[in-house]
Amino acid sequence: MFETTAEKMAQVGVIPVITVKDVDSTLETAAKAIEKGIGAVEITFRTNDGNPGYRMIAETIKKVRENFPGLMVGAGTVINAELAEMAKDAGAEFIVSPGLNPSTVEWCIDNKMPVFPGVATPSEVELALSYGLTHLKFFPAEALGGIKMLKALSGPFPQIKFMPTGGINEENYVAYRELKNVFCVGGSWVLN
Ligand code: 3PG
Repeated sequence: MFETTAEKMAQVGVIPVITVKDVDSTLETAAKAIEKGIGAVEITFRTNDGNPGYRMIAETIKKVRENFPGLMVGAGTVINAELAEMAKDAGAEFIVSPGLNPSTVEWCIDNKMPVFPGVATPSEVELALSYGLTHLKFFPAEALGGIKMLKALSGPFPQIKFMPTGGINEENYVAYRELKNVFCVGGSWVLN
């Protein structure tokens, strides 16, 4: 499911994870992505400010979409269905989450919103498969065993492709990308 979006993400290959401070600085970061020829970004819903913070992040996603229509924008750290809805309304084209929240996944499937939930164990991969998902985030990649773990998961789950994030950097991202069961990698190092 959601192969078309996953294919576009695979073409980008390395997707920057952006934490929002405010609208303007995020627009500058998005401009930097365009300058570097990066075709997609993940803007994360990370805030200590509750709903006003989430609203500001949704507004940021909307502004980035308006200012850079050619840039694919996904929403990250989408930890519940309400945030998925906010992200979709703001114009996000895909949803990423650190873990697999069934209510988020169900909302996304019901609303035809491409979703790439995070998994860390074979049981979570099985749960994702039960929803028909074949492209998953693998988070936090390095802490979970990184390349060794992804190679181990390729045995029982040949139909699954992963987007590792968490501890990916300039030194190790090429080795991750070379794995057959990796469709793209993500991380905050790209635009920092
Ligand atoms: C994520 O949400 O994907 C991670 O926080 C990114 O991890 P990194 O900061 O180690 O790249």
